[in-house]
Amino acid sequence: SPAPSAARGAFIVLEGMDRAGKTTQASLLRAKLAAQSSRPVELIKFPDRTTAIGTMIDAYLRSATDLDDRAIHLLFSANRWECAARIEAALAAGTTLVCDRYAFSGIAFSAAKPSLADAFEWCATPDTGLPAPDVTIFLDLSPETAAERGGYGRERYEREEVQRAVRAVFARIGGQQEADLPDAPDAMLGRARNWRVVDAGHSVEEVAAAVWANVHEAGLADGTQAPLGRLWA
Ligand code: TMP
Repeated sequence: SPAPSAARGAFIVLEGMDRAGKTTQASLLRAKLAAQSSRPVELIKFPDRTTAIGTMIDAYLRSATDLDDRAIHLLFSANRWECAARIEAALAAGTTLVCDRYAFSGIAFSAAKPSLADAFEWCATPDTGLPAPDVTIFLDLSPETAAERGGYGRERYEREEVQRAVRAVFARIGGQQEADLPDAPDAMLGRARNWRVVDAGHSVEEVAAAVWANVHEAGLADGTQAPLGRLWA
């Protein structure tokens, strides 16, 4: 394992399909990381619904308000930007961050919309320059397994046809279907961003073990010496 003098905390992002158990896995990972070293570990999530921008996002997701597809996309990105300095400061102070959703959800849920289907690059652009995750673990789940788990909730995107479209964009982001992505610069592909796929269609314990294996293999169990990257460089 890395030296205890590792320069900064690790920035670990969990992405995934709705019903994949992302929130459960984020808190299990936080506990595991905290047990492995004396380094502080914090859980953060996007959207952060507690800010003024987050309140607008929350109203949109609950369908209390309607917004233009590009306007809501920019609000999700702005919601990350308003937290960016706090993320950087925490990492620099040595805190490892486990982050429940990030810019990849921003691209996937917007580019899955018919109005933005050909605007992948436009969707990625507002997040350019944000702190880059050291690893992104994608919890993959088929719509069939999601249905077996009791189906989706009642928020705006929790419908099977939306989830199918979102999953297809995530696969493109992750480089699982690279031939389908002529319009995306290489740096935007998950491959370049240390993107790992975990099959979330197993027990909580099995998925947690797979998530941990990825964090450990990425050398992030106790922070990292690597300089913090920027999206999408
Ligand atoms: P949550 O259920 O994790 O709170 O996420 C709320 C919804 O917001 C979820 O359906 C994914 C979506 N989303 C976006 O559309 N764009 C984004 O940038 C983020 C972070 C989430």
